Amino acid sequence: MGRVIALISGKGGVGKTSITANLGIALAKRGLSVCLVDADIAMANLSLLLNMQNSPITLHDVLLGEASVQDAIYDGPAGVRFMPSGLSLENYRRVDSERLHAVIESIKQQYDFVLLDCAAGIEKNVIAAISASDEVLLITMPTSPSIADVLKAKITSQRLGSKAIGVIINFVRYEKGEIKKDDIVKMLELPVLATVPYDDEMRKSFMFETASPVMIRRPNAPSAVSIQLAAAKLAGLPVSPEAAHGDGLVSGILNKLRSMFGGKPKQAAAQSGFQ
Ligand SMILES: Nc1ncnc2c1ncn2[C@@H]1O[C@H](COP(=O)(O)OP(=O)(O)OP(=O)(O)O)[C@@H](O)[C@H]1O
Ligand SMILES: [Mg+2]
Repeated sequence: MGRVIALISGKGGVGKTSITANLGIALAKRGLSVCLVDADIAMANLSLLLNMQNSPITLHDVLLGEASVQDAIYDGPAGVRFMPSGLSLENYRRVDSERLHAVIESIKQQYDFVLLDCAAGIEKNVIAAISASDEVLLITMPTSPSIADVLKAKITSQRLGSKAIGVIINFVRYEKGEIKKDDIVKMLELPVLATVPYDDEMRKSFMFETASPVMIRRPNAPSAVSIQLAAAKLAGLPVSPEAAHGDGLVSGILNKLRSMFGGKPKQAAAQSGFQ
């Protein structure tokens, strides 16, 4: 039976869509079967990132009872399967998101992982996505407004019976004033699966004429390497040497300095306040 995980944040723009896509691709590259679902049914972005915005049948059609679930699932990059949401506002207004639970139930046994890219906030459509999940993964920036909002999202998921399993800290710049990993662990009372650095390669993902996730374009970019670490932890797989040694910019720089001065590169975990 597949694990259904909703990626939630509270605050908008913290990287849920980017991390859903890249995490799914990282899991697929490790041999797991993955279905990505764009559960942000109002502001669907995942199809734009996967360059699959022309998919004719979408989750909207399924929720409207006008198409079968299997007809709305497509082949995505690196072997992931993908269920897009429609881009039409008119269809969105007619959609009943409470049916999402039944839709996800009907596919979950076919995959190792079903990842739900959720909207920001804790409104109706997010509640529907959390209710359709068994587990939630919290995405936050290392800043207090983002953490305050993700805490509300965590409490909401607990009330709905979906288990919060961990946190991914995104947009980490290792700047003074950022909230440290250990403090985030204490505040959220959850393990951190990865700290994803601010990375221009990730930022540019939506910008190409043919948009493409960093895990496809540049799997060795710091953000992609961190997400590979999260994928390994999530699936209980051994961490690849690249991910172990290069989780984020700071460890990369410290490892480079260390090797210049003759020391052995250390695993990322010991290197900063974040790892
Ligand atoms: N680690 C990162 N470094 C640089 N840019 C990033 C990073 N993560 C995400 N981005 C960029 O930030 C923007 C917002 O990311 P994304 O759309 O994934 O966030 P979101 O949480 O899904 O937003 P929304 O709440 O609107 O759904 C995108 O342009 C993306 O490329
Ligand atoms: Mg999004």
